[in-house]
Amino acid sequence: MKPLLEAVNLCKTYGRQTVLDGLSFVLSEGTHGALIGRNGSGKTTLLHILAGDEEADSGTFRLMPWTRLGVLRQHEILPDEGTTIGYLSGNSGKPEWKCAKLAARFGIRPAELGRAPAALSGGYQMRVKIVRMLLDQPNLLLLDEPVNYLDLPTLLLLEAFLRDYPGAFVMTSHDREVLQNVCTSTWEIAAGKLVTFPSDVETYLDWKEEQAEYTRRTNRRVRREMADAQAFADRFRAKASLATRAQSKLRHIAKLRTQLRELGGALPTAAFRIPCPPFTAGTAVRVEGLAVGYGSAVVAKDIALEVPRGAKVGIVGENGRGKSTLLKTLGGTLAPLDGTLKWWHRADIGFFSQHAEDTLSPQETVLQALTRAAPPDAPAERILSAAGAFLFREDDLEKTCGVLSGGERARVRLARLVLQEHNVLLLDEPTNHLDAETVEALAVALKAYPGTVFIVSHARTFMNAIVDRLYEVRNGTLRHCLGTYEEYVFDLANLAEEASHATEGSSAGVSSVSADGRAERRELSLLARERRRSQQRLEEKIKKLDREKSEILSYFFENPTDYAPEKSRRLSEIEEEMALFEKEWLDLEAKAVV
Ligand SMILES: Nc1ncnc2c1ncn2[C@@H]1O[C@H](COP(=O)(O)OP(=O)(O)OP(=O)(O)O)[C@@H](O)[C@H]1O
Ligand SMILES: [Mg+2]
Repeated sequence: MKPLLEAVNLCKTYGRQTVLDGLSFVLSEGTHGALIGRNGSGKTTLLHILAGDEEADSGTFRLMPWTRLGVLRQHEILPDEGTTIGYLSGNSGKPEWKCAKLAARFGIRPAELGRAPAALSGGYQMRVKIVRMLLDQPNLLLLDEPVNYLDLPTLLLLEAFLRDYPGAFVMTSHDREVLQNVCTSTWEIAAGKLVTFPSDVETYLDWKEEQAEYTRRTNRRVRREMADAQAFADRFRAKASLATRAQSKLRHIAKLRTQLRELGGALPTAAFRIPCPPFTAGTAVRVEGLAVGYGSAVVAKDIALEVPRGAKVGIVGENGRGKSTLLKTLGGTLAPLDGTLKWWHRADIGFFSQHAEDTLSPQETVLQALTRAAPPDAPAERILSAAGAFLFREDDLEKTCGVLSGGERARVRLARLVLQEHNVLLLDEPTNHLDAETVEALAVALKAYPGTVFIVSHARTFMNAIVDRLYEVRNGTLRHCLGTYEEYVFDLANLAEEASHATEGSSAGVSSVSADGRAERRELSLLARERRRSQQRLEEKIKKLDREKSEILSYFFENPTDYAPEKSRRLSEIEEEMALFEKEWLDLEAKAVV
C-alpha cells in the first residue's frame, strides 16, 4: 500500500493543556480509519493540522506528491448568497450537470440546488459539503463528524458510499454504529497519545478491555505476592537466623513493584441527573389543526397531537421536512401559522436548539455562560457542581466558549438546562457532537427524568432507549407511528435498500423512500430507470463532445498561427450542443422529484 501522508512527532498545546503529545504515524492507501476519542481529546485539532487549517507547535507532516486531500470541516459556514448548484460548480470548476449528478447521489434535488447553501437545513448543508469535497476527486478524505446532521436515509446512503469508497479516509464520529459499518482500522487519541489498531472499532474496544482485564489480573497476582513477601519480612526481620532471608524478600518486593502494570486510568465521564419540579398528572400539550412554517411558507400542516405529562416523544423524518420547525413552534420561539397549540398552564419549557452558535456567545467563559443561565438566587456551589458533573473543572471554567470542541459546547448547553430545572424539555439533536459515554449518561438521565420530553435525533440507540411514542414528519404533516422506534428504522432501511437496487443509487432512490405501497414504488423505480437511461445517453454524448473539444483545443495549442475557420466554427457548435445536452440532463433530474 502506497503511503499518502506521513506525520512525525506532532505536538499541540493550548495553555496548560497538552492536546497532542508527539504523534507519529503513516496514512496509506486503502485506509478506512475511525478516529475516536472522548470529547476534547484532540481529534478535530489533529484533522485541522493535517488539513493545513492550524499549525502544530512542533513536529512535521508531509503529503505525498500523489495525494489529493479532501476535507470536510465540522464548523464551516456555507455562503448565504447565490445558488447551491452555482456554489458547487464555481468551487469545483465542473459543469453544473456533473455537480447535479453527484448531488443527486446524496439526495440533493433541483429544489435545493436552486437555493442558497446557507438557506438549506443542517442535513442538506452537510450533504452539500460532502459533494463539494468529492467533486475534486480526492484520494484521501479527512471527515470530521460527517453524519452529524444527516437524516436516516442519507446516513444509510453515506454509509454505503464510504464502505465501498476505493480511496482512503479518516473519519471522526460519535456514532459507533456508523464507524463500525464503514471503518476497518481504529485510531484512538487519549491523553495526548495516538493508538492505531488494524481492525474495526468493536474489535479494538474488545481488545482494549481484554488488555485491561489481563493487566488487572496480573496486578492482583503481583500484589498478593508482594503482600506475602511483606508478611514474611515483617515476621522474621528481627530473627537473626532469618534476617538475610527477610532482606532478600524486601528486595523481591522492590522487584515485584516494577512489574505492576499501569492501568490506563479510566477517563472521567459526565454523570448527572436532570431535576424536575413536581407536577400532577394530565395532558401536557394539545395541538389541533396546527400549521408550522415561516411567513407564507408552510412547512407542515394539519398537525394534531395530544401528549400526557411525563411522555418521552420522539420526532423523526427526513432532513428539511420540518422537525426543527415543529419543535421551535412547540417551544414558542416560532409563532404557529394556523390552528391551536396549548400547553398546560404550569408547563415550563427548556429548549435545546440544533445549533450551538444560536445560544452560546464565543467570548463568554464557561463559568459566565453557566452563571447567566442559572436562576439569579442559585448559590455558586450549585453552578460549580453542575459544571463538575459535565466535566468542567478549574482551568476549563475559564475557557471561552469560542475555543471549545463541539462536544464541550454541547455539554455547556446541557449543563445550562440542568441548572434551569424545567418540567418540559424540547431537544433538537442533543447528541450531535457528544461522545458515546456522554450520550449514554444523557440517555440514563432522560429516562429517569419525570418531566415531558420531545426529542428530535438521528442517534439510533439513543432514541431507542428513551422514546415511548414516535411521530414522523412526512408529506407535509405529522403522523403517529404505531410501532417502536426499532421497527421504524428497520422499515426505513428496507425501503432504502429496495429503492437503491431499483435505481442504481440515483436521486430517485431517496425520493422513492417516501412513496407508499409496493406497486407505486415499483412504478416509480421503472420511471426512474427510464429517466436514468436517458441521462446516461446524454452523458455519453457530452463526453464525446468534450473529447472532440479537447482535440480541437490541442490542435490550436500546437498550431498557434493556423486560424482554421472550420475548426473554430465546430468549436462553437460543440459549446452550444453541450449546453443543450446539459440543460436536458438537468431537466430530467428535475422531473425525478415532481
Ligand atoms: N484555541 C484554543 N484555546 C484553548 N483551548 C483550545 C483551543 N482550541 C481547542 N482547544 C481545546 O483543545 C481540546 C481539543 O479540542 P478538539 O476540538 O480537537 O477536540 P475533539 O476531540 O475534536 O472533541 P469533540 O469530540 O468534542 O469534537 C479541547 O479541550 C478544546 O477546548
Ligand atoms: Mg471535534
